[in-house]
This record gives sequence, C-alpha cells and structure tokens, in this order.
Amino acid sequence: MKQLLRNMYVDNKRVLLRCDFNVPIMNGNITDETKIKGSLETINYLLSKNCKIIILSHLGRVKTEEDKAKNSLLPVKNSLERLLNRPVKFASDILSSETKNTALSLQSGEILLLENTRFLDVPNKWESILNEDVAKSIVSLGEVFVFDAFAVAHRAHTTVVGIPKYLPSCLGFLVEKEKAMLDKQIMNPARPFTVMMGGAKVDDKLSIIHSLLPKCEHLLVSGGIANSFLSALGLNVGASLKTDNPETIKELKKLMLEFKDKFAFPLDAIVTTTYSDVPDMKNINEIETNDVIKDVGAKTIKKYGNIINESASIFINGTMGIYEEKEFANGTTEILNILKEKKDQVVIGGGDTVGAVNTLGFKGVFPNISSGGGATLEYIANGSLPGIEAIGEEDDIEVLDL
Ligand code: 3PG
Repeated sequence: MKQLLRNMYVDNKRVLLRCDFNVPIMNGNITDETKIKGSLETINYLLSKNCKIIILSHLGRVKTEEDKAKNSLLPVKNSLERLLNRPVKFASDILSSETKNTALSLQSGEILLLENTRFLDVPNKWESILNEDVAKSIVSLGEVFVFDAFAVAHRAHTTVVGIPKYLPSCLGFLVEKEKAMLDKQIMNPARPFTVMMGGAKVDDKLSIIHSLLPKCEHLLVSGGIANSFLSALGLNVGASLKTDNPETIKELKKLMLEFKDKFAFPLDAIVTTTYSDVPDMKNINEIETNDVIKDVGAKTIKKYGNIINESASIFINGTMGIYEEKEFANGTTEILNILKEKKDQVVIGGGDTVGAVNTLGFKGVFPNISSGGGATLEYIANGSLPGIEAIGEEDDIEVLDL
C-alpha cells in the first residue's frame, strides 16, 4: 500500500507538492478553477501542520520559447492567493540559486509556487524526459514529496517520478480519493462496461485504445478520434480533424478488424464548411470535401444512448462536439442527459469533459468525477500509473543518498 499524506509525519517540513494546475486560461484569465480547488484540501492540511510549501505544476504543452509566453503559472498564483486568502511567492526560474534561497528561507505557513515545470523542456526536455540531475536539484529545495496530481500520473516526468526517488514521498488527498473512487467504480467494473472516448488526436492514444479494448464491452468514439477511424474505414470526413499518419491508419484498421464488435462510430454529424459557418446535419457517408464535422447528429445520439442504457458502468473522457460553441453543444448535452439517468454508474474523467459538465448545466450532478483524462484511461488500461508507482510504500524507511 502506498504511503498516504494522512499517515506521514510532515510537521514543520519543507514540502515539495506536485499538483496538476493545468487549467484552461483565456486572455490571461483562468476559465475553470476546478483543478486548483481540487488540491486545496491537501494544501490546507499542510498549512495546518505548519509546513513550508513549494508547489510544482506544469501548464499546457511547451515546446518552444514562444509557448512560454502563454503558459505562465502566474494566473494560478493569483487564484491561489484568493482561494487561500494568503500571499503566495512565485519563482520564475526553477533551477536558479535565487529560487533555492527563497525555498530554504520559507517560514512555516508560507507558500512558494514555482513557474511551469514544462519550461524546463526548452530546449532540453528536462521535464518530459526524466533527468536525474534536474530531479536532484529540485529535491534540494524540500524535505518531503507529496504527489497530488492524479491527472499527470501517466507522465514519467522529472517532477512526477524523479523527485520521489530521493525524498520520503506520499500521495496527497486528491490522489488518494481519486484512486479509491476509480478502484471501486471501474477497475473491476460491473458489466457491460462502456468507455466513451473523444478528443482531437488519435496518434498518442493508440496504445491506450489497444489496452482498453479487451477490458470493455463497448468503445464509443467521437471527435478527431472518430474522424480518424472513419477515414481509415475509407469514408470521406472532408476537412475535419483526423490523423494523416500512415502507421497510425494501419493500426486503426487492425484494431477495427480485431475488435469490430466493440466499436461504435457516429452515424451522422453536424457540419459547417471551409467557406460557411452555417451548420448542416448530414449522414456520415454524405460528408463532402469542404465539410468540417463539429458535432454528432440525432441518429448518433440515439445509437450511443441505447448502448449507454444497456451498460452497467460507463467511463466518459471527451465530448461529442465543440461544446464551447452553442450550435455544437447539442450532442454533448444530450449524451449527458442520458448519462444523468444512471449517474451512479458513470465516471466522468478529464479537464475538458468536466468543463463540459460544468458549463452545460450538469454541475454537481455526477458523483464520480476524476481529474484525469489520459491518466484515468491509462489506469483502466494498465492497472497502474508511473506517478503512483514512484511513491514509497507505507513501510519504506530508506531514502536514497544524493
Ligand atoms: C491533463 O490535463 O490531462 C494533465 O494535466 C496532463 O496534461 P498533458 O496531456 O498535457 O500531459
């Protein structure tokens, strides 16, 4: 059993706390604080134990210097200050000696938020690819590591799996609770078990889809993932988002052959065109070259609804369409209405899907919510996650020397 924060002696310690504050930001403003609120229990507990807290998180995908400008964690600092009603210090260069001095001189009850850990990826991928030296440098800022970032537990990042190699470590309350909920609801699911999966890109989800299929009775797909499968089947998806990678297309074909009874694909779609924003409903085999698929249509809602109604447990990660735009929110709204009827059997996973639940009027309806999208899919598929595996066991007493 993994060490838990509730059982660990952390009083007065300098705690490195890995959160997932990968929140949506528009024009410098956070549009959904759910992920930040999710770690408040852990932060408040650490404050009650007089800890000095050093918070780490990534934000967005950072591949170039330009990506840094729109992915600073500064808006998160402001949000934390308001939610905790206390000042939060901020360090823009994680590895600098100035940051180290600030961390080492923190007083009990003080909080230091470090800048986006993925800034370390430019140019050397020091966050995304485990780097022992960088891990050790960050370790030197703290005395204990608390992992409270379930949604990033599938990434073997330096600040996820590297730090706990060198410090006593434990799972924070968010991870403890989410793991327990998933273990109860879907690790050994009531059958039939249905997974609904949407999202833009299929390429980085292939291995998860492959591991998921033997574990579920139905896989319902939407979005760019559905378009890629449909295109691999030889259907025209027009100018819609899809993969063009020949290797991926070959894999998709193989998967559809091997698991053909498990897949469900859209039967119709709401489309616009590359030259007009006026929505039109079309059967899936009538899509033309200039059409862009934005949502599913009534036939798909009925088909997916029937499968949901026959399912005993359901995991949903992804939306049916571009729900942020009113004209294309109907598919997602209708599917959520159907899911609402069996809400205790449903787990909603991932920032985007939780965002859809909240903005489309379903806030508070579903009792089982996971912050993890990719992480939860991978947990269901593989039964373990690198970020959780990296945490010490309850009875571990040995900590490696630096
Ligand atoms: C998430 O939002 O799912 C996590 O923060 C992981 O983000 P990533 O997919 O960019 O690694």
